[in-house]
Amino acid sequence: MLPVARKPIVQYVAEELVANGVRDILFVTGRNKSSIENHFDSDPELTRLLTANNKTDLLHEMEESDLAAQIFYTRQRQQRGLGDAILCGENFAGEQPFVVALGDSILGLHAQSRSVSRMIEVFETKRASCVVAVEEVPADETKHYGIVHPAEIEDDVVRVQDLVEKPDPKDAPSRLAIAGRYIFSPIIFDLIRRVKPDKRNEIQLTDAMRLLAEEGRRVLAVKLPPNEKRYDIGNFPSYFETFVEFALADPLYGAEFKKKLREMVTD
Ligand code: G1P
Repeated sequence: MLPVARKPIVQYVAEELVANGVRDILFVTGRNKSSIENHFDSDPELTRLLTANNKTDLLHEMEESDLAAQIFYTRQRQQRGLGDAILCGENFAGEQPFVVALGDSILGLHAQSRSVSRMIEVFETKRASCVVAVEEVPADETKHYGIVHPAEIEDDVVRVQDLVEKPDPKDAPSRLAIAGRYIFSPIIFDLIRRVKPDKRNEIQLTDAMRLLAEEGRRVLAVKLPPNEKRYDIGNFPSYFETFVEFALADPLYGAEFKKKLREMVTD
């Protein structure tokens, strides 16, 4: 439930999905994560209190954070990696293609990204089995991401021939890093089951995607546009930067915060 500026990160991710047309969201959570369920639930006591105290601005904010989506929850009982977490959604997805959004990434300032819509369009028109969002990262950062091996690039769409999870810069097939959003056809579940656990006993989703490509199925990547950068919340330096950037862009408090920040930096 880590917040960035005014909202918890999960709220941004859910809002982004809803803005891109997703109407059913399954959270795959784990032990001690019930705060996520509480966050998306209604809070009649708080509503009553705010109404009684005439806090209309806060009430308005609460209404705005209500999502036009149905939310479901399930738990991954053991930390067996991202691939295993996706398997927890198998019954939920059924026979339908589905979007995966990782909770450590916000796309676009204040989650204003439309990349998932673009990915859905590419998935449908190119009859892909998988479409993944990618962004270019500096060479020394490939070891933090899944990296795609491009076969062909046409505008923002990359045909992927292989993928490697967290390669050293010298082994990286490109600098195009998986950016935390994926669309899969349900065929991926069988392939995840075929993946062998890595040294940490985790089932990597990237390895299942690799099998997809190996089988000759169409795996495509869509490059994030320059104005929709990915904010990585998974490590402290970029979490701090994201917080400051979002706070500076806050319509109500941004200008004042900028002044304060200038004072703090020049002191
Ligand atoms: C996961 C994926 C990786 C992807 C990254 C994006 O790694 O395994 O391929 O590039 O998310 O956030 P994690 O950050 O969970 O180690």
